[in-house]
Amino acid sequence: MSNSNSPILVIGATGRIGRAVVSELRRAGAPVRALSRHPAAGAITEGVESVAGDLAVPESLDAALGDVRVVFLVWIAGPSSMPEVVARLAQNVERVVFLSSPHQTPHPFFQQPNVMGTLHADIEHALAAAELAPTIIRPGMLSANAVEWWADQIRAGDVVRWPHAEVETAPIDERDIAAVAVRALCDTAHAEKDYVITGPDALSHADQVRILGDALGRRLQFDELTPDEFRRESASRWPAPAVEMLLSAWGATVGLAPYMTSTVADVTGTPARTFDDWAAANVDRFRQ
Ligand SMILES: NC(=O)c1ccc[n+]([C@@H]2O[C@H](COP(=O)([O-])OP(=O)(O)OC[C@H]3O[C@@H](n4cnc5c(N)ncnc54)[C@H](OP(=O)(O)O)[C@@H]3O)[C@@H](O)[C@H]2O)c1
Repeated sequence: MSNSNSPILVIGATGRIGRAVVSELRRAGAPVRALSRHPAAGAITEGVESVAGDLAVPESLDAALGDVRVVFLVWIAGPSSMPEVVARLAQNVERVVFLSSPHQTPHPFFQQPNVMGTLHADIEHALAAAELAPTIIRPGMLSANAVEWWADQIRAGDVVRWPHAEVETAPIDERDIAAVAVRALCDTAHAEKDYVITGPDALSHADQVRILGDALGRRLQFDELTPDEFRRESASRWPAPAVEMLLSAWGATVGLAPYMTSTVADVTGTPARTFDDWAAANVDRFRQ
């Protein structure tokens, strides 16, 4: 493990995965610097050094990068500032651990049109070309998607309306993504490694809703929507390209087992958490 006292910079530190990375780094006793566009807004964990910066404004990162050697990078901004941000990283730091996606995994679920996957591939190439020894972290579907997808419906009643009841994925707990990321951030042995990370179980959407109901002590009903019904019902909530991306990924996976890896256990020595574990830890987010 690295015994450097220079802080590890976490970009995306207020997000679902970055927040878990900050917590895991603190548990590991590593010095952390957390970046946000709005650090004063109070979204950064108390007691963590916070710093302002915006990926869309490359020069705004300079102060954050001072005395940093390793960066956890979540990229949410558009593509135009990426080359300049990577150039600044290359001037200042030794290594980057990049949160990407399994866009190169040969399973139909991951092989549908996806602009984010294209951008992720471009960032990976840029980091490698800049000799930043990138560790690429590629989670499959996040367990935490359940909040964005279903929490409003579950708070409002016992019916969840959603497409593709039986399509299976292997949802991954953000704490396990963080556990792998922190090994990579703290140990140069993980430099230039490529980790596809999934949860331990094949679970359909209907299974996941049932497990959430069990955690809540309620019997939830799954009402399956056709893709067109889902397009209509989600039109006011999510951008159409995001909805089409999900529908094409699910549609391509009907009847197939999900792609699964043992990366969490291989890297951390501890098996990946189940969706039941995730539901128990997050049940309050589905309560009124
Ligand atoms: N959902 C999935 O199933 C899934 C699966 C695989 C991979 N992924 C990937 O995971 C990533 C998203 O991670 P997440 O879910 O943890 O994110 P998230 O919860 O949506 O949070 C977004 C984070 O990005 C930061 N951010 C946004 N714009 C920024 C900017 N211009 N400059 C600096 N920081 C900025 C936000 O910080 P502030 O608002 O505080 O600035 C926040 O910390 C994406 O790359 C996605 O493709 C998702």
